[in-house]
Amino acid sequence: DKPEDLRPRPPVITVMGHVDHGKTSLLDAIRKTNVTAKEAGGITQHIGASEVEVHGNKIVFLDTPGHEAFTSMRARGAKVTDIAVLVVAADDGVMPQTKEAINHAKAANVPIIVAMNKIDKPNINPDRVKQELAENGVLIEEWGGDTICVPVSAKSGEGIENLLEMILLAAEMLELKANPKRLASGTVIEAKLDKGRGPVATVLVQNGTLKIGDSIVAGSSYGRVRAMMNDKGKAIKKAGPSTPVEILGLSDVPEAGDLFHAVREDKIARQIVEKRKLKVREENLNATARVTLEDLFK
Ligand code: GTP
Ligand code: NA
Ligand code: MG
Repeated sequence: DKPEDLRPRPPVITVMGHVDHGKTSLLDAIRKTNVTAKEAGGITQHIGASEVEVHGNKIVFLDTPGHEAFTSMRARGAKVTDIAVLVVAADDGVMPQTKEAINHAKAANVPIIVAMNKIDKPNINPDRVKQELAENGVLIEEWGGDTICVPVSAKSGEGIENLLEMILLAAEMLELKANPKRLASGTVIEAKLDKGRGPVATVLVQNGTLKIGDSIVAGSSYGRVRAMMNDKGKAIKKAGPSTPVEILGLSDVPEAGDLFHAVREDKIARQIVEKRKLKVREENLNATARVTLEDLFK
């Protein structure tokens, strides 16, 4: 990409943390904070991703990557997250999956913002939680580290605005950019076979702009984008960098973590996929051959 084609893009955030520490509740609270009056009460989420707007700045939240998906995506070389929000319940502290989440974020070199949740509860001890975080390599700012910790309550809404502002600040430091002018590329977040609509994939466009009619390759499936829907379930014609969209038109169901690319012609998409499938078949054959040889020497 030529530097002059690069434009700022919204940050993509993954919410991680231990079971029941309030990840989903926090995302609900964030969406509620951001729904306009006419939508109030009816917050439907159509895909495992949502876009919120804070003072005119977009933030994209991925809801699905609990850390299993995060791990499998990372294993496949996909990097979708710019910042990890680590949810830690103030009444429970650092738990096994909190530690896993910390390790994943660190291994992927993704900055962490701690959301210390459930601060509405009585008898909590935030200093104990901060101590536990420090013991696990997450040193928060007021203790001389560089990790921001925002006390929040998904229940009362306290601290949510502050958390969003901290996310925007952290994102600003990353100077995230992409080129909206090129052919789209990105990652499959989730995919399924829908009885009526065929293969349906939620993809995150990370670079370029995806348009209706584009030929795309996603893992070992290909096709033309027949329809696109945003996180609110609205049909759209194009999707720029950092936009999660649901797409129809693929030949097969790709896997979460598969990379996708738009290409200039259908023919190219088909050729790439045929080559990929051939390669997989060869690898399988080689594996079978190896097993047979090994069996001979048993
Ligand atoms: P998993 O997806 O199962 O890992 O859980 P989660 O992290 O998404 O937690 P979830 O949002 O399902 O919340 C778990 C429980 O904690 C629910 O009963 C919530 O109502 C409760 N809860 C979440 N946030 C808060 C909070 O800020 N205050 C209080 N008091 N309860 C909360
Ligand atoms: Na839960
Ligand atoms: Mg949840």
